[in-house]
Amino acid sequence: MTTKNPDHIAIIMDGNGRWATNKNKSREYGHLAGTRALLYLFQKISSIQIKYLTVFAFSTENWKRPKKEVDMLLKIIPKIKLRVYNHCKKNKINLRIIGDMTTLPPFVNEAFDKWKTLQHKNPKTTLIVAFNYGGKSDIVHSVKTIVENKIPSNDITEAMISENLYTKNLPPVDVLIRTAGEKRISNFLIWQCAYAEFFFLEKCWPDFKIRDLQNVIESFKKRKRNFGSISS
Ligand code: FPP
Repeated sequence: MTTKNPDHIAIIMDGNGRWATNKNKSREYGHLAGTRALLYLFQKISSIQIKYLTVFAFSTENWKRPKKEVDMLLKIIPKIKLRVYNHCKKNKINLRIIGDMTTLPPFVNEAFDKWKTLQHKNPKTTLIVAFNYGGKSDIVHSVKTIVENKIPSNDITEAMISENLYTKNLPPVDVLIRTAGEKRISNFLIWQCAYAEFFFLEKCWPDFKIRDLQNVIESFKKRKRNFGSISS
């Protein structure tokens, strides 16, 4: 049984649309409520001892949504930019972005550039926002870098692939949380979750509270992790 807090928690924030539909509201209304839940989580994260928290904000597949919804999602980051920055600056939290930044509109990259300037030496926590992120494209991106560096195939190792992923220098994911009842990984951190413990919550993301995160951590501590070995 593990008794230690997880080092790295990742969250698939699902269910904004269903949450809103249940209230006869638009999907955009749901994303606004989801944004509030995310800001609340960022604000409360210092009360929990956790080194890395990664949230799935926009996937490489989300471009398939109606243009109105995509535009709305893209505009969220600039809207919350200063609030998140100021909070993290004051509370010794670092921010990091993972995903393909090359195809994002400049106004999104501008906000991310501001966030990336936060470089506390010993941060209490690092918040990682996965944006235009897909697990498969992360692996392709890593392999391309290795090939570009002309590494002979015999020298390619798992560690080398890890070091060239967007998540370079981050530990593997210990805990993956998904809200809103679906039980799948949806192309999120597929390499990094090889030995993650999965927690599927029924509630939709806008209803997620810090207590839910604390409950998951307590359950995680009771789980036995063998990493492919045998129980001792
Ligand atoms: C999934 O809910 C959620 C998303 C695709 C976006 C997640 C975004 C937020 C939590 C808001 C914060 C956003 C940013 C960009 C920082 P869904 O719309 O798939 O819900 P459904 O499955 O019920 O339709």
